Amino acid sequence: MDYDLATWLNLALRWLHLIAGVAWIGASFYFVWLDNNLTAPDPPREGVKGELWAVHGGGFYHSQKYLVAPPHLPSHLHWFKWEAYTTWLSGFLLLCVLYYWGAPVYLIDRAKMAFTHGQAVLVGLAFIFGGLAVYEGLCRSPLGQRPRAFGVVWFLTLTAAAYALTRIFSDRGAFIHVGAIIGTAMVANVFLVIIPNQRKIVAAMLARRPVDPRLGAMGKQRSVHNNYMTLPVLFIMISNHYPIVTGHPLAWLLLALISAAGISIRHFFNLKHFGIIRHDFLFYGAMLFFGVTVIATVVKPKAAAISAGPVAFTTVQTIVRTHCVMCHSPTPTHPGFAAPPNGVAFDTPAHIAQYAPRIQERSVASHSMPLGNETNMTDQERATLGAWIKAGAKLP
Ligand code: HEC
Repeated sequence: MDYDLATWLNLALRWLHLIAGVAWIGASFYFVWLDNNLTAPDPPREGVKGELWAVHGGGFYHSQKYLVAPPHLPSHLHWFKWEAYTTWLSGFLLLCVLYYWGAPVYLIDRAKMAFTHGQAVLVGLAFIFGGLAVYEGLCRSPLGQRPRAFGVVWFLTLTAAAYALTRIFSDRGAFIHVGAIIGTAMVANVFLVIIPNQRKIVAAMLARRPVDPRLGAMGKQRSVHNNYMTLPVLFIMISNHYPIVTGHPLAWLLLALISAAGISIRHFFNLKHFGIIRHDFLFYGAMLFFGVTVIATVVKPKAAAISAGPVAFTTVQTIVRTHCVMCHSPTPTHPGFAAPPNGVAFDTPAHIAQYAPRIQERSVASHSMPLGNETNMTDQERATLGAWIKAGAKLP
C-alpha cells in the first residue's frame, strides 16, 4: 500500500470520525439530559408535556416537549441523524483503510491465527454484521421487553465476542472489532428503528391520526441501549493507546470490567438528571476500575526467566535490529512503512536508550510490539530487553 496515501486517508477519516462522534454523542447526551430534566409546563399549555429553561452562551433557551403535533408545525424541523451516520461511515472507512487494507500489519497476529489477508477481512466483517444480526434478534425477541435481562444477555454476548476476537486477531484488532460491533448496533438503532419510527409518528401527527404507541416504545428501547453503550464504546476507541489493557492475557475480562464501570457511571448520571443522587453507582464504577488495575498488576504476561547477569548493550542492539528497525527507522525497509511509526526510530544507541520506558511498555510488559509479532520475537528476547532496562538502560 502507498504509505503516504494510507496515512493521509487515515488522518482525514480519523479527524472526521472524531468530529462526527463528538457531535453525535454530544447531541444524544444533551437530549437525554433535556428529557430527564423536563418539568410540567407552567402555566399548562395544550399538548405540552414538559418544558425546560436554560441559559447558555449569553441567551435564554426555552424548550418544550410536545407529545402530539403542535398546532403549527414549522416548515423546518431538524432531524438528528447525520451525526450518527457520518460517525459510522467515517469509522467504517477508517477500519477498512487501517485494519483491512493493512491487515497483515494491524489485524493479523500469526502467533494467534495464521489468517490470509482475505480471510482476516471476512472474519472481521462477519463479526461486525453477525453481531448486528444477533443484537436485532435479541431486541425483537421477548427478551427485548425486559431491559435488565436484555442488558445482561447482550453484555455477555459482547464479552464472549471479545474473548473469541482476542484469541484470533491482533490485540488492537480484536478491541476495535468489539467497538465496531457496538458502534454498528448503535447506528443501526438510529437508521433502522429510531428515524423510520419518528417519520411514521410525525406523519400520523400531521394527519391527526392516532399514533401507534409501539413506534415510540421501540425507539425509546433503542435509545436507552445507545445511552448505556456510549461509555464502553468510547473507551474501546482510545484503547489502542493502552497496550497494558489490550495486550493483557485477560484483555477480554479487563474490557468487560471497564465497560461495566462505564455503564455504572452512566447510570449514576441518568438517575442524577431526575434528581436521584445515587453515589453508590459512582462507587461501583470506581471499584470496577480499581479491580482492573489490580488484575492487570497481579496477572502478568508469562515472562521467561530473566537471563542471569548484566545484559550487554550489543545484545540489546541485535534484538532491536532483528525485530524493530525494519519499521522504527528513518528509512524503514518494511514495505508497509515509509517513515518511522509515530516518529519513533531506534537507529542509534542513544535513541534506543531514550525510548527504553516505552520499549518496556510495548515489548516487555506487553506483547504489543513488534506489531503482530511478525518477526516471532521470543519471550527470552523480551526478558533480555527487560533486564537491560531494569538495570538502568545503560549505554557502553
Ligand atoms: C511492522 C512494523 C513494526 C515493527 C516490526 C515494530 N513496530 Fe513498534 N510501532 C509500529 C507502529 C505502526 C506503531 C504505531 C502504532 C502503535 O502505537 O501501536 C508502533 C509504535 C511503537 C511504540 C510506541 C511509540 C509511541 O508513540 O510511544 C513503541 C515504543 C514501539 N513501537 C516499540 C517497538 C519495538 C521495541 C519493536 C521491536 C521489538 C517494534 N516496535 C517493532 C510498527 C512496528
